[in-house]
Amino acid sequence: MKILVINGPNLNMLGTREPEIYGKTTLDEINNQLVEYSKTLSSDIELEFFQSNIEGEIVSKIQTANAHGLIINPAGYTHTSVAIADAIKAVLIPAVEVHLSNIQAREEYRKISYISSSCIGTVAGFKEDSYKMALLGLYNKLK
Ligand code: DQA
Repeated sequence: MKILVINGPNLNMLGTREPEIYGKTTLDEINNQLVEYSKTLSSDIELEFFQSNIEGEIVSKIQTANAHGLIINPAGYTHTSVAIADAIKAVLIPAVEVHLSNIQAREEYRKISYISSSCIGTVAGFKEDSYKMALLGLYNKLK
C-alpha cells in the first residue's frame, strides 16, 4: 500500500519554527517516526514524502501521485487554496488532512479549511502524532 505524505510551506522549518506551537521535532524526524510507526501497522506500507513551499508544485504532485492514499498538511494553504482542494478531488485518492496544531483553537482565519471537504478525515492538535493517527485511519480504511 503506497501512501504519499505531502507537507506544505514552512514545514521544512519545523524544529526551529515557533516551537511553542509546532514542537521541536524536525520534518525529517517526523517522517522517520512515521516510517517506524508504519512498520507496527504493516510491512506492506510504503511511504513517499514530499514537501514544497509552492502551491503549484503541490497541485502537480497530487495530480501525478502514484499512491493509494494521501496524507497532507497543507500548512498555510489550508486557509486559502481552492487549487489544492480541487486537485485532491480530481484524483479520487482518499486523503487525510493533518495539522500539528489545533487550528480550531487559534486565530479566526485558521478555523476555515478549504481542504477538509476534499478529505475523508482531519487530525489536528497532536503535533507529530497527528501524522501517525492519520496513517492509522487511512490504513484501516484502505486495507
Ligand atoms: C499548520 C497550521 C496552519 O495554520 C499553519 O499555517 C501551518 C501549520 C499545522 O500543522 O498546525 O503552517 O498546518
